[in-house]
Amino acid sequence: LTEKLNIRYPIIQAGMAGGPTTPELIASVSNAGGLGMLGAGYMTAEKIEDAIKKIRLLTDRPFGINLFVPETPEWNEEKIRKSNEMLRPIREKLNLPDPGTIARPDPGQFLNQMEVVLESDVPVCAFTFGIPEKKIVERLKNRGIAVIGTATTADEAILNEKAGMDMVVAQGSEAGGHRGSFAAGFEMSMIGTMALVPQVADQVGIPVIAAGGIMDGRGVLAALVLGAQAVQMGTAFLACSESGAGRLYKEALLQSVETETTITSGFSGKPARGIQNAFIRMTRAVEDQLPDYPIQNALTRDIRQAAANRQDPEWQSMWSGQGIRLISEGSAADLIGQIISDVEKISKSILSY
Ligand SMILES: Cc1cc2nc3c(=O)[nH]c(=O)nc-3n(C[C@H](O)[C@H](O)[C@H](O)COP(=O)(O)O)c2cc1C
Repeated sequence: LTEKLNIRYPIIQAGMAGGPTTPELIASVSNAGGLGMLGAGYMTAEKIEDAIKKIRLLTDRPFGINLFVPETPEWNEEKIRKSNEMLRPIREKLNLPDPGTIARPDPGQFLNQMEVVLESDVPVCAFTFGIPEKKIVERLKNRGIAVIGTATTADEAILNEKAGMDMVVAQGSEAGGHRGSFAAGFEMSMIGTMALVPQVADQVGIPVIAAGGIMDGRGVLAALVLGAQAVQMGTAFLACSESGAGRLYKEALLQSVETETTITSGFSGKPARGIQNAFIRMTRAVEDQLPDYPIQNALTRDIRQAAANRQDPEWQSMWSGQGIRLISEGSAADLIGQIISDVEKISKSILSY
């Protein structure tokens, strides 16, 4: 995998949509020998193009773009009305006006994103929430772009391999943020990384990238022993100095422990793991009646942005994985350096038994 991606270390910084993956973070990871990845799922084609230019000014090493395979949500006016009703007291607290109508999800956005990736010849393109059309996978591969899919079960990994993906992320239930489940439903796909990685590795011939709860050298080594050829880490990079996560979000990450993350659909209509707060508690009772992703995500956008601007941790999403207690401050290069030296130390001590 490191040869195919032309990287020194088998460490991929997860594409994290919504702002954490700044050009500075991506370039630092790639310059330190890992693979930086832009979380571009929510970005317009123009913003992606701009970010690619900025990344290229900061590094000549490979990096990737992570995109969301579009879904076909049900547009249900009644659910939208009920969701806005539930959100009204929060909007009042934050002095936000009643929302106007939100735009329907635009399926054209994904195709525009794809064109930018293809035209910019970015070395790696990763997908989550499903598998893109065959034509897209073929076009990427014809341009020499390595294609990575996401799986949360062995069956999803097999589907990724059949679709021509060059490698697949095996994403355990410890992972922060939204997971890529697309075949068996959310409940059935809550498999921990320790159980998922070897089962996926046995079922596919393409390289496996382990993700979910991997925070340090111990986690990286364990993932490699389980049959992965690389790891993808999200939460561990969030508190790095180059990350775009806000100050309060970073503080919450540094202060929280493993019992404080939970799964919620309240923010987006799709289950995701984040730090417990008032918003999650308030939406808990009705979260299975909310509009589909990404409609609910669009409905809560004004609230999440206002809370972030006010530095209010109670009403914004603070995605995090279960490895949260292991987060430390520092630069991305420090984190990668520490991981590599720990992997060397631990493997030596294990071999000396
Ligand atoms: C803040 C945040 C945002 C994320 N956004 C994305 C995303 O846009 N695309 C994606 O494929 N995965 C996303 N993920 C999941 C990561 O790719 C990765 O699987 C996960 O972070 C691994 O678990 P860890 O957080 O315990 O390291 C996100 C994770 C976090 C924490």
